[in-house]
Amino acid sequence: MPSKILIIGACGQIGSELTTKLREIHGTENVIASDINTRKLDLVNSGPFEIIDAKNFNAIKDCCKNHNIDTVYLMAALLSATGEKYPMEAWDLNMNSLFHVLNLAKGGNIKRVYWPSSIAVFGPTTPREDTPQHTICEPTTVYGITKQVGERWCEYYYKKYGVDVRSIRYPGIISHKAMPGGGTTDYAVEIYHEAIKKGTYECFLSEDTSLPMMFMDDAIKATIDLMEAPGENLTIRSSYNLSAISFTPKEIYESIKAQMPDFEITYKPDFRQAIADSWPSSIDDSVARQDWNWQHSFDLDAMTAEMLRALKKKYHTS
Ligand SMILES: NC(=O)c1ccc[n+]([C@@H]2O[C@H](COP(=O)([O-])OP(=O)(O)OC[C@H]3O[C@@H](n4cnc5c(N)ncnc54)[C@H](O)[C@@H]3O)[C@@H](O)[C@H]2O)c1
Repeated sequence: MPSKILIIGACGQIGSELTTKLREIHGTENVIASDINTRKLDLVNSGPFEIIDAKNFNAIKDCCKNHNIDTVYLMAALLSATGEKYPMEAWDLNMNSLFHVLNLAKGGNIKRVYWPSSIAVFGPTTPREDTPQHTICEPTTVYGITKQVGERWCEYYYKKYGVDVRSIRYPGIISHKAMPGGGTTDYAVEIYHEAIKKGTYECFLSEDTSLPMMFMDDAIKATIDLMEAPGENLTIRSSYNLSAISFTPKEIYESIKAQMPDFEITYKPDFRQAIADSWPSSIDDSVARQDWNWQHSFDLDAMTAEMLRALKKKYHTS
């Protein structure tokens, strides 16, 4: 029997590419995409799609029952920058959606859950370099608090009720298909678009702010590899550290400039600088590498080449 999958928040930056990949693997009819809106029409029209509010337990439950869903990927969330503007909405969405899915698994309605955490679980008291898997987590953003608490609940549901929940602490994810949804690392996507469209970019972080990042293809591969790994190999049921590359705005600028010599950047840090300053600059992901053989493929220059190639095509420039 092929796995029947529901993706909640499928129209987002990661959800949209995850949906495409899972449909390639499991068959389009076996992967139900859902979101609160239909903003990604190509995804809505390319296979089964349902409008589902992640805060509505019965809507998720009915969908799982109607489609015999065994695995749910919960990708809906309010991200770090938006969460600081709407703290109670971030708490409400990020926590209640997770409880709904965990409770469905606890009740035997579904077998497996994927829920992403983030480097936002860390805070200013966390060791900034090579941040270990097990370390101080005192997040200072509402988003980070929801992810940290969510991790604790995931581990609790695994230990107490045997729920097969799996999770990754994503770094900033960079992609050229969907735009990012209000995070602190969004600059590393916007910079490529503006380089192609205008030849200049005003960065909302300072030039020397180093943050952990990852190209989307690596993030999707990691997600699927973790979900396919034998459960007995997994030693972490809160959330795995995951790492690929770390760079500063100046370094990504130089990587682009090597291919587009006229590209220019200016820096105008805003409220997101304080969020970035509270996060690690690099992550130790040796546990993920050991438990399920995680390996990344894209370094900064390989990612830049792929981003510029795809966006030149998108904006019809040569
Ligand atoms: N993108 C990153 O760099 C990054 C980094 C770390 C962690 N994450 C985590 O990965 C997950 C996906 O992130 P993303 O970047 O794709 O986010 P996104 O903001 O691009 O997408 C989120 C999607 O959820 C949908 N949504 C919002 N409210 C909803 C609701 N009530 N019901 C159903 N759907 C709703 C939105 O319409 C959107 O399509 C989130 O949990 C996020 O915290 C992302």
